[in-house]
Amino acid sequence: MRKLLKTKSVIVAGLLCTSSLAQAEEVEVLHWWTSGGEAAALNVLKDDLSGQGVGWTDMPVAGGGGEQAMTVLRARVTAGNAPTAVQGLGFDIQDWAAQGALADLNDVAAKEGWDNVVPDALKAFAKHDGKWVSAPVNVHSTNWVWANKAVLDANGIAQPASWDEFVAAVEALKAAGITPIAHGGQAWQDATIFDAVAMSTLGPDGYKAAFVDLDEGTLGGDAMKEAFDRMAFIRDNVDENFSGRDWNLATAMVINGEAGFQMMGDWAKGEFLNADKVPGEDFLCFRFPGTADQVTFNADQFMMFDQGGSVSAEQAALASAILSPAFQSAFNVVKGSVPARTDVSDADFDACGKQGMKDLAAAAASGNLFGSMAHGHAAPASVKNAVYDVVTAHFNGEYDSETAVVELVDAVSIAK
Ligand code: GAL
Repeated sequence: MRKLLKTKSVIVAGLLCTSSLAQAEEVEVLHWWTSGGEAAALNVLKDDLSGQGVGWTDMPVAGGGGEQAMTVLRARVTAGNAPTAVQGLGFDIQDWAAQGALADLNDVAAKEGWDNVVPDALKAFAKHDGKWVSAPVNVHSTNWVWANKAVLDANGIAQPASWDEFVAAVEALKAAGITPIAHGGQAWQDATIFDAVAMSTLGPDGYKAAFVDLDEGTLGGDAMKEAFDRMAFIRDNVDENFSGRDWNLATAMVINGEAGFQMMGDWAKGEFLNADKVPGEDFLCFRFPGTADQVTFNADQFMMFDQGGSVSAEQAALASAILSPAFQSAFNVVKGSVPARTDVSDADFDACGKQGMKDLAAAAASGNLFGSMAHGHAAPASVKNAVYDVVTAHFNGEYDSETAVVELVDAVSIAK
């Protein structure tokens, strides 16, 4: 019996040793990139790391926008078992950093000169108290429209350049018996459309006043009511099965010609590319009417969770791989986003990607670059969730536009 016990403990010790060795050689990555296009992009990162001998334990949590992933993350951190690296957005990154949960990436950042190549708009979220705490992967933007070109052509519809032209195009599709707008009724998707719609009625100063400065007069003003009226028009022109649909299934409706338009961030382009569709030939990408000069952005970053001590070799390798110019091009070409560095060539990007890079640079230079409210880059999560609640309740017919602005003012003032 004694001998048996001894043998057992040797085996247990051996197992422990193997598992800590395995841990030392791999990263566990929590993310919400589960659609076809997203997974294809993630493979670029997995392959890059495996080429460096760093293993990958995948921790996908489905749910566009990442709300479910953030719930899982909170549970893991509370249990004292934070993953190595976690996809994060905007104010959430700053929250985790303020709690002291993130590792200090300053050594790798200094060695690789991140300060010189990452734009200020991203540094505002990637750095906390002068320390780099996350590695920026990309810049997405939410004020895009995606259209099926053959559907538009067959109905004599040109790419709409104003809200009125968009309304006319939607009416024409409806008259032809085609679902004008593909949409998934989930709060974050309603809010993603609202980013662009609100920008179109409020203008850049109004967008900032409402969602960054949380100014009550703007939140409750006429231009905000107009935004809700436009949301009501959009709601009237989605199909009857929209409720709860995942965003990528809405994109598939446009890809397959079942619907004309989708308003969605440029991760939608990843789905078109994954289906072998070509911009300008099969699909169109253009800024939401009335927002041609503005960009509402969100940037995916990987937060490196403190594993007890300084940043691990694997975390440094992951951060370094993410920021390398070659990766920034290869990954973002597939993902639909644009590079998080300002010095990456647009040569490998398609027409939509080239436009995205140009728009981003122009918006940054002219003061027209704003954080996306829907994706946690305009205000902290409490305010974002308050906006979600009102936008979704209005979208689902619970409030008319007049009530919605009153509710918005109330909800934001309680949340801030
Ligand atoms: C966003 C994220 C994108 C994309 C999208 C849909 O929040 O920034 O990378 O994945 O959700 O899942």
